This record gives sequence, structure tokens and C-alpha cells, in this order.
Amino acid sequence: MAYASLGEIYQRFGFYISYTFIMSPNGLPTALSVDYPRLKQRLLTLAQIGEIDGGGCARLALTDEDKIGRDLVVEWMRELGLDITIDRVGNVVGVWNVGSGAPVMTGSHIDTVRTGGKYDGNLGVLAGLEVIQTCQEHKIIPHRPLAVAFFSNEEGARFAPDMFGSLVYVGDMSLETALDTISIDGKRYGDELERIGYAGSAPCPGITPHSFIELHIEQGPVLEQRGTTIGAVTGVQGISWQEITVTGQSNHAGTTPMSLRHDPAYVAARIAVFLRELSTKFGGHQVCTVGKIDLHPNLINVVPATAVLTVDIRNTDELVLQQAESELRDFLLTLAADEGVTISSRVLARFEPVDFNEELINLVETLAHNNGLSVMRMPSGAGHDAQMLARVCPTAMIFVPSVKGISHNPAEFTSDEDLAAGAQLLLQCMLQMANSGGTQ
Ligand code: HGY
Ligand code: MN
Ligand code: MN
Repeated sequence: MAYASLGEIYQRFGFYISYTFIMSPNGLPTALSVDYPRLKQRLLTLAQIGEIDGGGCARLALTDEDKIGRDLVVEWMRELGLDITIDRVGNVVGVWNVGSGAPVMTGSHIDTVRTGGKYDGNLGVLAGLEVIQTCQEHKIIPHRPLAVAFFSNEEGARFAPDMFGSLVYVGDMSLETALDTISIDGKRYGDELERIGYAGSAPCPGITPHSFIELHIEQGPVLEQRGTTIGAVTGVQGISWQEITVTGQSNHAGTTPMSLRHDPAYVAARIAVFLRELSTKFGGHQVCTVGKIDLHPNLINVVPATAVLTVDIRNTDELVLQQAESELRDFLLTLAADEGVTISSRVLARFEPVDFNEELINLVETLAHNNGLSVMRMPSGAGHDAQMLARVCPTAMIFVPSVKGISHNPAEFTSDEDLAAGAQLLLQCMLQMANSGGTQ
């Protein structure tokens, strides 16, 4: 008779033990649960920092607003008695030092895009604090330390690439390269980090967690369309960011015949149309975005001299992503010749698709089922710090739905019921990961 391994036993029965029971005031055992109103209050308090019209947040990395947000979360970490470290690229990790061995880590980011919402990143960090506070209050001592991190500059919108801090944290971007990165507004990362007081002393790479799990809003329409509460995230799609510079000839808008123009604005528009058509042709998960176009001199009566635009191309399949990049390259060569302009390109970010840990994906699914929640496996369209932690330890993510699939938009919204379900699942997953012998 083949004996089930410990991992298989946990696999099959372990989730029964993940229900941690506590004695309620009436003396009856009750399942341990997060304090959702407290979590919601923290989400709303953090969302007031950098608040913009429509109820969103603008806390671009290393801005004054980011600093104020950081200070607030560090204060919450301090109130929980966590051992707080700030590393040399500005990542902040709070560890509840109980048990023994490497910590089970959760976390995300608190920097936002310029038109961010309340939940992107913030949910994962604040739910991590809630998990630790719930355990502390009910005197639940995990076998391993629990850590919650916010990684610096996850968005990459001001300083590219995205997942910047966690990439340095895992050792796959050098500290020097990171500190010398120049922002879209011409600032050096290291100088801005000093300016906001988060140039820490903890070394990079950071401590390798036993395992990592991140709670995040889906930021897309899938869960809502499927009427499903939980996403057991299988991995993250590949990401290709580049900055394309088109140099033409500035000229008079009124006197220059169309046939004599070398117009970077027109070329930029052609690139955007090409990418839309390529996405339609490829179908599936293929997405392409021209999110930023800067014209110079950007005046109504001047045919521009230059256009600098960004291109964001993503796909779950690395080979298809490479095909998309190759077809764009060919198109740019032809376009430059046709329009008499020069076109150069600079890579801003390039990450291959990432698969998360099968055992942890199973755990998310099993515990979600256990909680009576609908759950489905799905890839992540957005980049996340978890995709970097997956390079050094078993990693998974939990998604909760985004209403109308909207994100990177002040209208970003997730219901209280779904936020609470996600935080509760995070609590149970982290306790299981901390108390089981295997990956989990
Ligand atoms: O770009 C992304 O997917 C993430 O929001 N940084
Ligand atoms: Mn995010
Ligand atoms: Mn984001």
C-alpha cells in the first residue's frame, strides 16, 4: 500500500486544520476571522493620502504623497510591534517574529499610478497587517514568523520598470542600476529616495521568505463576468515595455505641403493603429497599449520635431510575445523609410510569463471552496510583486473581483463582501503555509 506523503496528507486533509478555532464570548468555538471593518477603515484612511477627484489616489513612487503613505503604513506596522526594516531601494518589511525559520510573507505595494484607485496594491498590504493583528488578538501563534511588505515603486509609471523594488529585493536588478534610474520627470531614483527619507540600510537582496502570497484586486473583468468571487492565480503574463523616439522635421503647419512632411505625430499615430490591429490579429490574451505620447514642441501650428511614445505589449505566451515584438520592429523599419524619419527604441521592462506554485494554487482553491466561495484558476493580466518573489520562493496570489473590470482609474471598486472574503482567505492561507511542513 503506497503511503501518502506528508505533503499529500496536508493536500487532502490539511485544510481541515486550517480552520483555526477560537473560543467565542459564549464559550463556543468559532472560526478565526479577520476584522473587516478595521481593514476597511485602514483602506479608506490610506486612500485619503493623495486623494483625487472621483475617489481615487495619486501617490506616484517616491513623491511626497508616497512618503506620507509610507509613513502611515510604517506607523501601523509599529503599532503591531513588527520588526521593521527599510532596505536600500526603499522596500519596507514588517516581521512578526514568532515561531522559527524563514517567514511566510505577504504584501504588495502602496505606490499608485497618477489616476489610481483605492485598492490596487493597498489591499494586499493592509490585509497583511489585518492577518497579523487578528492572530495577535486571538493569541494564535503561527509556527513561522509572518511578514508583510510593501515593495517600492511597483507601478513603474514614474521610474521604469514596474515591479522595480521587488526585482531588486530578489536580486535580479542591481542596486546601482536602480538608484541611477531616471524618472519621466527627470529625477534620479536614489536622490528621490533620500529626499523622502526611505533610503534604508537593510541590504538588497532581502531575506528569502519560506513562501509568499499576495492578495490583489483582479483589475480586469473576468471574475465579475463569471460571477466568481476568488481567483486562484496561476501566474502572470509576459510584459514588454519600450520607449520609442521618432525624429522628424519640425515645420510650419500652414506652409508645408503634406507630401514634404516628416511628421512624428503621424508616425506615432500609425504605431498605435498598428498595435491595435496586431492585437486583433493575434487575439487571445494579446494586449498592446500606447499610454504616453510626448510631442515636441507640442504646439498647435508646428509640425512636431519629435514624438516620444511608450509601448506596453503583453501576452501569456512568451513565443507570441516575441512574435509581437518582432512584427513591431519590422513595421517601424518600413515606417521610418516611408516617412523619412528616424525611429529608435529603448527597452523599459521585459519580463517573461511566470507560473505560480501548484501546491499554493491548490491551497487557495481548497480553502476558498472550504469557505463556500466560488473560485476559478486564471492568469494575471497585470504585473505584480508576486511575480518577482516567485523567482526565490513558492508563491501564489489571490484575486478578488473588480467591478466592471476597471482599474488604474479612480472608479476602481471592489465590494466589501469580496474584500472581506479575500482577506479571510489570506488569513487562512498564511496560517496553513506557516503551520504545515511543506511548501504550504
Ligand atoms: O503594469 C502593471 O501591470 C502593474 O500595474 N504595475
Ligand atoms: Mn498592483
Ligand atoms: Mn497597478
